[in-house]
Amino acid sequence: MGSMISNQHSAKLFVASLPFDRRLYRQDIACSVAHVRMLARQGIITDKEAELIVMGLGAIREELDKGTFPFRPEMEDIHMAIEARLTERLGPVAGKLHTGRSRNDLVATDTRLYVKDAATQTVTAIHDLQSALLDVAQANLDVAIPGYTHLQRAQPVLFAHHMLAYFEMLHRDCARFRAAGAEADVMPLGSGALAGVTYPLDREFLAQELGFSRISDNSLDAVSDRDFLVSYLAAAATCMMHLSRLSEELVLWSSAEFAFISLGEEYTTGSSIMPQKRNPDMAELARGKTGRVYGHLMGLLATMKGLPLAYNRDMQEDKEGVFDTVDTLQATLGVFSGMVRSIRVNREATARAAADSMLLATDVADYLVGKGLPFRQAHGVVAQVVRHAQSQGKALNELSVEELQRFSTLFAPDVTTITLEAALAARRGHGGTAPRRVREALAEARKRLEACRG
Ligand code: ARG
Repeated sequence: MGSMISNQHSAKLFVASLPFDRRLYRQDIACSVAHVRMLARQGIITDKEAELIVMGLGAIREELDKGTFPFRPEMEDIHMAIEARLTERLGPVAGKLHTGRSRNDLVATDTRLYVKDAATQTVTAIHDLQSALLDVAQANLDVAIPGYTHLQRAQPVLFAHHMLAYFEMLHRDCARFRAAGAEADVMPLGSGALAGVTYPLDREFLAQELGFSRISDNSLDAVSDRDFLVSYLAAAATCMMHLSRLSEELVLWSSAEFAFISLGEEYTTGSSIMPQKRNPDMAELARGKTGRVYGHLMGLLATMKGLPLAYNRDMQEDKEGVFDTVDTLQATLGVFSGMVRSIRVNREATARAAADSMLLATDVADYLVGKGLPFRQAHGVVAQVVRHAQSQGKALNELSVEELQRFSTLFAPDVTTITLEAALAARRGHGGTAPRRVREALAEARKRLEACRG
């Protein structure tokens, strides 16, 4: 007997979404208020009934805001919980609320309202981080670092150029979140359980009341579509991928091996055993959290795969991953804005690294090209020069002109004009790292950010 009760209990718990979908209460009540007003306008219920229900919903929203709403575990979801509470307060008239409506079109509408909001908030948080990147770029405009490919020193770049690369990634992220918000901006309410409803609803009015730009065109699709969540999660996964790449660089750069930067105290933690350590935990956690955001995207895609039309209860599984994604992303972006602003560049270390004359090998090849040698041959000559220098334990700029001339007679005294500054300045095409270009790009980025913030 005891075990039967507990089995029934766990079955109830199993279907319940109230523990997490209570987060949709504002959206749910907004939908109900709009719906009831519309029902009265259409003469489906009386004005008096509508007024009672709207007042009741207002009181319930207050209870929820204040945290005095009596949540009962036997309530399945937030939609049922609110309706049950309305019935407690108003009696049978509360039963008119659900006329011409289903939880299927309701939950789809609630979720869309939620994602529209979340997308806007995410974009704002990204803008903050972009502005932090521009500030740290601006403050270090004179700093050069080695640029890497394969994590091997390649060619010099400006530190600001590197920061601006992340600005670009985040700029694309904003566009993706805006697109996800726009995709969510279609109202399913009025689709009923799946086939449409038998009442003369005014869906356009509903959309207007709820701030939707348009209404859905097919009732079956409207209640089964979770593409807008996939789009939000995909945008989130991509954005986290970007933050994770930045994390990795911050971890590397703040190591003793690179020592290019230090992060603000509050963005590092001490070791419990090694007193000298400052660990970049925030960056590592951001990198780590990327995995679970990817997981939520894969989770939803897997949940939706193979579902017949229209609504299936499987789809209740859409919410926790989305909520966790919104929270994780918001928290990560917030921490990153502060952490990026806390970056202090160690100018000694960056100058030492950027002074590595091997970074100029490409420029030496370009020098020979300037003297008429085809690039492939020039590349071969400089490869030999580099090997020679390495065998002598010398830097590239420590080789004499005579030494260089052993590899090509095209080398002349003007080879000393190949310097870090010259190498940077020479990359002056659009998108290059020439200081002049980077200053322009920085100003341009500020303008773009302002325009986006509107
Ligand atoms: N809690 C459900 C969900 O989140 C609401 C819709 C329930 N509809 C149903 N026919 N059982 O998906």
